[in-house]
Amino acid sequence: MKGIVLAGGSGSRLHPITRAVSKQLLPVYDKPMIYYPISVLLLAGIRDILVITTPHDQEQFVRLLGDGSQWGISITFGVQPAPDGLAQAFLIGAEHLAGGSAALVLGDNIFFGHGLGGLLDSAAAQVEREAGCTLFGYRVRHPERYGVAVFDDAGRLVDIEEKPAQPRSTLAITGLYFYDRDVVEVARSLRPSVRGELEITDLNRIYLQHDRARLVDLGRGAAWLDTGTHDTLMQAGQFVQVLQERQGITIACLEEVAMRRGFITAAQALEQAEQMGQSNYAEYLRRTAADYLAEGHQ
Ligand code: DAU
Repeated sequence: MKGIVLAGGSGSRLHPITRAVSKQLLPVYDKPMIYYPISVLLLAGIRDILVITTPHDQEQFVRLLGDGSQWGISITFGVQPAPDGLAQAFLIGAEHLAGGSAALVLGDNIFFGHGLGGLLDSAAAQVEREAGCTLFGYRVRHPERYGVAVFDDAGRLVDIEEKPAQPRSTLAITGLYFYDRDVVEVARSLRPSVRGELEITDLNRIYLQHDRARLVDLGRGAAWLDTGTHDTLMQAGQFVQVLQERQGITIACLEEVAMRRGFITAAQALEQAEQMGQSNYAEYLRRTAADYLAEGHQ
């Protein structure tokens, strides 16, 4: 399975902050926003990632992420000229996917939770095994801001509605999606919605109509955070700060995730920490990689 991070869009809800800087490069406490969705793909075992940006922001993403070799993965870049919808990611990424399965994560979505790695791993394996798509749901207080799951009396997923005025459940569809190899073809069959976008919800509905969509509820133990407005961006940063401070961990430390997944060695992670200088992030990585080495890992 290959990964796509969609990191385009105009960021207009965060103006003027995002006039000169892409939203997905803004800091969420101690690291750029895009580190969080990339960490999700690494946790799912995905090592080949396409990062889609606006044409004018691409250079900065390349400077930040390079070719991914520092994390033992491959990162390449694609361009979305205008924000014509989330499902366009599969048209832009068709060559990258080369007829295989795909994980799409929105560059502004933050996930955190105990056991998330295992859950993502098995969801990816299930898509490979059984085809179809896997969506991830999360209960929220304001479902009307998202794609929302609709269930029948037996609790089966029967529909998904995009930002319904009267949501029929509180389960929002998060910005993380796993699809089988048909996804590009399905995306090609889409037509723009009334707001002029190729909607991810329309794509998901096609899978659902063919009885090929699964929904995994992330549950109360997980956190799915929004960064769409000034308030929610601030709250996401505060969440990360409080948790890291309390537990002495770093969320979405890409070198650590890569090391624990065996994409790079502990010695390589340590070397990168040395090159990174004096930040808290670097200090954490230095400590974590040294401990991992001392535990007898490579
Ligand atoms: O975050 C999850 C939600 O994402 C889902 O529940 C919804 O079903 C889905 O439509 C989407 O809703 P949003 O209102 O959050 O979508 P938005 O247009 O804000 O785009 C999400 C991110 O993707 C944002 O950072 C900008 C980026 N984007 C958006 C569009 C439309 C692109 O990179 N390209 C695009 O064409």
